[in-house]
Amino acid sequence: MLRIGEVELDNPIFIAPMAGITDRPFRELARELGAGLTCTEMTAAAAVVRAPEELVDRVIDLGAGEHPVAAQLVGSDPQMMSDAAQICVARGADIIDVNLGCPVPKVVKLGSGAALAREIPATVRVLEAMVRAVPVPVTAKMRLGWDHDTINAPELCLALEDVGVAAVTIHGRTRAQRYTGLADWEEIARVKESVRRIPVLGSGDVRDPEQVERRIRSGAVDGVVIARGMMGDWHLLAQTVRQLKFGDPGPEPSFRERLELARRHWDSVVDHHGERRGVRLARKYVVWAIKGCSGAARLRARVADLNTRSDLEELYWEIAAAGEGPQGWHRPSFTSGEG
Ligand SMILES: Cc1cc2nc3c(=O)[nH]c(=O)nc-3n(C[C@H](O)[C@H](O)[C@H](O)COP(=O)(O)O)c2cc1C
Repeated sequence: MLRIGEVELDNPIFIAPMAGITDRPFRELARELGAGLTCTEMTAAAAVVRAPEELVDRVIDLGAGEHPVAAQLVGSDPQMMSDAAQICVARGADIIDVNLGCPVPKVVKLGSGAALAREIPATVRVLEAMVRAVPVPVTAKMRLGWDHDTINAPELCLALEDVGVAAVTIHGRTRAQRYTGLADWEEIARVKESVRRIPVLGSGDVRDPEQVERRIRSGAVDGVVIARGMMGDWHLLAQTVRQLKFGDPGPEPSFRERLELARRHWDSVVDHHGERRGVRLARKYVVWAIKGCSGAARLRARVADLNTRSDLEELYWEIAAAGEGPQGWHRPSFTSGEG
């Protein structure tokens, strides 16, 4: 069991915040499959504070059955971030997470995300204010540093721990790397060595349940956060949770089992967001499900024309009939230095 502040979590396998992906249907399914914690997509603090109620309802949209759940905020103003955190708590967030790693120009230009993390005193001011403002744990998610020459995650985490931040997640890449190259898990372990009291979660290329177990059992990290590994692979989560609990990931799912979970997810997206918006949002999830299918290119070409629930249903049956491709489905393997 892992604790973040007063919040007890069933297990240390978390689902990463992913903009455009980890909405309520995604989080609810992840929770059902065993995720120890899920997190909303990053939301700008200013939007939470200033946007009309209906818009806030859409982004801080936490279901009764999905607790514990974290709400992630991005911003750089201590007061605005504190006000936004209070609103998220009032809407049921069990944990407030602060995004200190977002690399996109639109965010760093405002001095937020990865840009804020470059300035340790400024970051500490924001997090310290938030810790004071809300009764729930405040956590932070960051990269190793801005670039290879300015890695500051160990120092930053130590400073954040001192002002009451309850856990940190380290994405083992720098801002300069964006999403390229392999995550550096040795650097993540250095952060774990530098902090004294709070859990350290690792993020980056998490796709191998046995490797996750080794990393946690060896004490390199207290838990992991699965991100792109979830794309088209719902079973990765359940298998990783099982690996950690029982030392075995369980049987490999069949093509049909993979497809059924994918379909459950996209159906719930349509139920939740309504047919028009939901089907458009579901298109990318259909593309993930087609990966490894026989005649994948032909099926993928149809995705842009999905507009209605019945279009989705029709394509589902075609995917099911096509079955697994000659190469079979395989989980891409990653090695990140430490074996
Ligand atoms: C599509 C996408 C959206 C993301 N959105 C967020 C976000 O909103 N907040 C955040 O902290 N990280 C975000 N990330 C970063 C992930 O949480 C994760 O740290 C990163 O992808 C590294 O893990 P991976 O190599 O397993 O994908 C995003 C990543 C992707 C691919």
